[in-house]
Amino acid sequence: MNRRQFLSLSTLTLAPRVGAATPIRKLSLGIGRQALVGAGHPDTAVWSYNGTVPGPELRFKQGERLRIEVENALPVETTVHWHGIRLPNAMDGVPGVTQKPISRGGRFLYEFDLPDAGTFWYHPHLGSPEQVARGLYGALIVEERNAPPVDRDVVWVLSDWRLDREARIVENFGNPMDASHAGRIGNTVTVNGAILESFSVRAGERIRLRLINASNARIYGLEFEGHEPQLIALDGHPLEPRASARLVLGPGMRADLMLDCKGNPGSAHRVIDTFYRQRAYELLKVEYGTQRASRTSFEPVPRLAANPISVPDLAKAERHRIVFGGGMMGRGGMMGGMPGRPGLFWTVNGNAVPEHAHQEVLLKLKHGASYVFELVNDTAWHHPIHLHGHVFRVLPGGHWTDSVLLDPDARAEIAFVADNPGDWMLHCHVLEHQATGMMALVRVA
Ligand code: C2O
Ligand code: CU
Repeated sequence: MNRRQFLSLSTLTLAPRVGAATPIRKLSLGIGRQALVGAGHPDTAVWSYNGTVPGPELRFKQGERLRIEVENALPVETTVHWHGIRLPNAMDGVPGVTQKPISRGGRFLYEFDLPDAGTFWYHPHLGSPEQVARGLYGALIVEERNAPPVDRDVVWVLSDWRLDREARIVENFGNPMDASHAGRIGNTVTVNGAILESFSVRAGERIRLRLINASNARIYGLEFEGHEPQLIALDGHPLEPRASARLVLGPGMRADLMLDCKGNPGSAHRVIDTFYRQRAYELLKVEYGTQRASRTSFEPVPRLAANPISVPDLAKAERHRIVFGGGMMGRGGMMGGMPGRPGLFWTVNGNAVPEHAHQEVLLKLKHGASYVFELVNDTAWHHPIHLHGHVFRVLPGGHWTDSVLLDPDARAEIAFVADNPGDWMLHCHVLEHQATGMMALVRVA
């Protein structure tokens, strides 16, 4: 069987359990302008889905079938990747692996069931360091059939921008300096596409806050002064509610928080980002209106219903060690790139592959078998490592997630069942790292 036959076959065998059909929605990519910085500053030219950054907040119910037609009016090719969704391989939006790029003026219909509830997102998987930095991303929310009652369900898409004094995007995407260090970290952080001075609440409210880190490279460490938000899900998947004093979120990652507004009417409380200790800043203020509290005592925060994920058999699992290497201040760091590999700075098990030029498969996994991957960070940098098409447990605790943030020189063990056939990307979600070597292909067959 050649590769094309294999792909169409695998699409066939995965053909839908019938999800409740939803009408076809459209996502149109184009160039627009948006007031990112706000009052007194010029608008910024951005790339967007349906004219806004972030793109439309897509909401579905668990088990429904998503159908979205993407129209590309940008001057470049693109694809859409549905980050964190366990979908058929042909819908994964990886150019040259699962589909041809969507050409300028082209269209593509994405259609798949949504097996898991949770907070997900969508973004291009082609030319990502530029396309995401220009504003292409949006929230994809899959609601539980029986969601816990809240007063409001709010999404914060966090992104950061590198802007000049006229609020124009600095167009040095993927430059070697960023690529070989921490990635493109911007100078302006926005919430839902604008600098947000304050987030208004009413005393007594219970708010489900869904945070999405859509930044190319920035890691957040959020502290809610005067509050004790409960973390109820990571990357869309439930965990035992627990107080989170400082929420660390790497690029691509999501967290659901339950925020009980126990402050006094008229009070204000900072949300600060202290991840980079020397460069802490105030993200926004939680501002209470003057109305008296709508409730004075809060029910305990319930645990969300688990998603239907196959549980790996740790005793039988086959183990693989995957080493992430390269970058400056480590072994072999060179600003021009690695010896003989100009423009590449990072490796997976010693290999560096330019964005989506994968000829070789890193690992062949048996459909239905359990695996433990030992992920080793052999660099002086942080890397949020993401696997497509699957959800894994981070050992030893065992919470489910689709990405894990590796600190410099740290390691992690993840376990999962390779139950989704196809070729899947395993990569760092710092987009400048992904594009310069830190991405590999894993085949489940
Ligand atoms: Cu959100 Cu392969 O990525
Ligand atoms: Cu990385």
